Amino acid sequence: MNIQAPMTAVHPLSPLAAEEIIKTAAIIRRDLENGADALFETIELAETDRSAVRAHQNGATPDRKAWANVYHRNRSGVLRCLVSLSDERIVSTTYHKDAQPLISAAEFMGIESAIKTDPRFIAACKRRGIDDLTFVTCDPWSAGNFGIEEEKGRRISHVFCWIRNSKLDNHYAHPIEGLNATVDISTLEVLSVTDKGDVPIPRAEANYDRSFQTVVREDLKPIDVVQPEGVSFKLDGRRLTWADWDMQIGFNPREGLTLHDISISGRPVLYRASIAEMMVPYGSPEGAHPRKNVFDIGEYGIGRLCNSLELGCDCLGAIQYLDAQINGLDGGVETIKNAICIHEEDMGILWKHWDFRLNRTEVRRARRLVVSTIATVGNYEYGYYWYFHLDGEIEFEMKATGIINTTACEPGKPGLHGVEVAPGVRGQIHQHTFCARLDMAIDGDANSVVECNTYADPAGPENPYGNAFRQHETVLETEKGAARKADPSTHRYWKFTSSDRTNHVGGKTAYKLMPSSTVTPFLSPDGPSGRRAGYTFNDLWVTKFDPDQRFPAGEFVNGSDGSDGFPSFTSQNRPIVDTDIVAWHVFGLHHQPRPEDWPVQPCITCGFKLMPVGFFDDSNVRDLPWEKNSASCSLSPES
Ligand code: CO
Repeated sequence: MNIQAPMTAVHPLSPLAAEEIIKTAAIIRRDLENGADALFETIELAETDRSAVRAHQNGATPDRKAWANVYHRNRSGVLRCLVSLSDERIVSTTYHKDAQPLISAAEFMGIESAIKTDPRFIAACKRRGIDDLTFVTCDPWSAGNFGIEEEKGRRISHVFCWIRNSKLDNHYAHPIEGLNATVDISTLEVLSVTDKGDVPIPRAEANYDRSFQTVVREDLKPIDVVQPEGVSFKLDGRRLTWADWDMQIGFNPREGLTLHDISISGRPVLYRASIAEMMVPYGSPEGAHPRKNVFDIGEYGIGRLCNSLELGCDCLGAIQYLDAQINGLDGGVETIKNAICIHEEDMGILWKHWDFRLNRTEVRRARRLVVSTIATVGNYEYGYYWYFHLDGEIEFEMKATGIINTTACEPGKPGLHGVEVAPGVRGQIHQHTFCARLDMAIDGDANSVVECNTYADPAGPENPYGNAFRQHETVLETEKGAARKADPSTHRYWKFTSSDRTNHVGGKTAYKLMPSSTVTPFLSPDGPSGRRAGYTFNDLWVTKFDPDQRFPAGEFVNGSDGSDGFPSFTSQNRPIVDTDIVAWHVFGLHHQPRPEDWPVQPCITCGFKLMPVGFFDDSNVRDLPWEKNSASCSLSPES
């Protein structure tokens, strides 16, 4: 194989190009013992040191390295290899003997096929009146780590089943309750089939596919988004600039979209931002359902599950797309066309004032830059939307849509942990708990974090009318001290302050994190799932930057024991004042399903905002031109 492929990467943080993925795999196949049989869980850019990123000159060829997680069908564990693409050699390897590779989308259908040919499974279906298994579906969930003897040291998927009535029918309307199986993903051996209970399969159809639509409303007129003079952002390779913003767009198979070196008006704000983990615990103790505690990012990798977005459907207006290149298990390349969408949106008014004495009005419109992706994990869709606003605010919104995970119940008897969304079809209480990893860089790498709480002043001579209240600020000095919960009763927020720069009133320049979508965890912290989800027990964690601390539930999550990730990341209790800090914000959705979430769930959302606070000397948006949109028209005849 030719490993002298040309390099097209232009920036040290550009995701691996197709030829770099192929080259990494070729070097490993050539130089690694048993390299010929290697399976490639992940091949991704090894992000270089930030000093090299900053020293990079446009047009220069950066030194490129790749991480490759490699495994073999007949051997447990994962070999993590660092490969130099510039030197064409393996730089280092570490063997993680207890680690399990994540579950690849390429393995999903093999798992289903293996189960459907198992005689025990065939018999269980027959007992339920299903002779033809063509329309039976088996969703391959990660199995967790429940200390089950036969699963130890193996890479397991635990499976829930449904059946379609016809080819395009929504199978989630017909759960096969009590029928589950476990499969060794590497060998495709079916380890167990459990067939419990006699809850009938609900057979009533609940479809959303256009082929089933019998009523199509006709009262809604088109809304077109047009930008007659083009868009206001610029893309140079993967460097995106818009208004005062500047950033580098990244992507990897595990986290999907990543954003790097984000600055405004030439001043750094974030060195790196990503959604680094997501856990979805379900609340039901019945049957096989307690196994549903899935880490969608750490166990599957959300990047490889990204959609090819469709113009005029997913994205409206003038759209810039970026493709994503993902490694296959064989070390080849799969391209997700149009995986990342970049566009601008009108956002209503940004600011306004009518001086009633002068009868003079000033108003300016807001707009935002949107960088987004959508990933499908089994029944759910997760829409990632990063918003950049003209006033310096950064916002992240997660849109959850798709189909709720369904189970079957006796009609009218959903039990204590679920809601009947249709007769005999139940949605169970669950959560989607995300963790954003925010490598802060407010006016430089040295930052601190300040907790802000508002309290009433004590009654007394200083507060004679009992109406005094003020904000108290506390510097969080150590990692353990910065493991914090939100507190709406004190309007708590956290401020990331620069150690090097002050504003024109002498305050440290800063951004604040407003926690608006926190989730109370209900897992027992020492239970088999809670132990693995340590990060979910606080709303904020702050660590001193460590390049090896990338994922809050650990580097290898599939079958993990919880020893990696939080809280062990903070066990050294390093000082976090005036240093390079990473903020980890835990947020999400607490989801008691509604009948309105069925059969297809309109987007429910959660997220967070990072707002400048004393970062600028003033509102910083007075320079917007006064203008009237000439394409707007009045429907009132007199105006
Ligand atoms: Co949900």
